[in-house]
Amino acid sequence: MANIFLIGATGGVGIRLVPDLIARGHAVTGLHRKPEQAEDLRAAGAMPVEADLMEISASDLEMMVQGSDAVVFSAGAAGSGLDRTTAIDGDGPVKLIEAARKTGVKRVYLVSVFPDAGRSRERRDGFEHYMAEKKRADAALAGSELDYVIIRPGTLQSEAGDGRVRAGHATPYGNVARGNVAAFIAELIDTPLIRREIFELTDGDVPVAEAVACLKRD
Ligand SMILES: NC(=O)c1ccc[n+]([C@@H]2O[C@H](COP(=O)([O-])OP(=O)(O)OC[C@H]3O[C@@H](n4cnc5c(N)ncnc54)[C@H](OP(=O)(O)O)[C@@H]3O)[C@@H](O)[C@H]2O)c1
Repeated sequence: MANIFLIGATGGVGIRLVPDLIARGHAVTGLHRKPEQAEDLRAAGAMPVEADLMEISASDLEMMVQGSDAVVFSAGAAGSGLDRTTAIDGDGPVKLIEAARKTGVKRVYLVSVFPDAGRSRERRDGFEHYMAEKKRADAALAGSELDYVIIRPGTLQSEAGDGRVRAGHATPYGNVARGNVAAFIAELIDTPLIRREIFELTDGDVPVAEAVACLKRD
């Protein structure tokens, strides 16, 4: 049993990850920003902690993540503006890295974005900025001494998924069900030997547990 702190617990991935982690016997604390979300998180078995990533400092986060075995960052500004994207997708993980270092939380799982996400799309400043902020966060985490795993999912679909994925250091671009992303993260959390890695992730043919087992290095 591990204590997992989940940032973005009410999001499309987060809301699916909470029950996955609880079913695996973990204790989950979920960060949420709206007071009315607390009850749903509690009903799902998580302990709610109310905070707005736009407002809190690294030292505020430090107090929140204290005692956690691992932290998952799955929050995102979801196209709500350049400043919010900077503050949530870019600064959010950077604050978390500082908080984790200071509190001795060793493991951080960051939901980033597939590098090919912008291909074949009309160029949009907001999207370019989003991709740059995601990369800034990835680089900060990969440059830290933490036991990180960066997950780069393809285009997210609001589906539970069939529990089958394609995952690796470099894989073809595609869609991925939010439920499959959650299942992949839950399996990674239970496979702590996998650390200091960056994985691309889409839907695929391989059951999640098998896909994660294949990612272990000898
Ligand atoms: N959309 C895609 O196709 C795609 C592809 C690859 C990667 N991603 C990334 O995957 C991750 C998960 O995606 P998702 O679909 O689960 O995202 P989502 O449904 O938009 O959820 C985002 C989460 O972040 C929270 N959040 C937003 N602003 C916040 C703030 N100021 N303070 C605290 N929490 C805040 C949201 O809280 P509320 O419930 O209060 O809004 C929600 O829990 C994101 O980082 C996203 O950028 C997305």
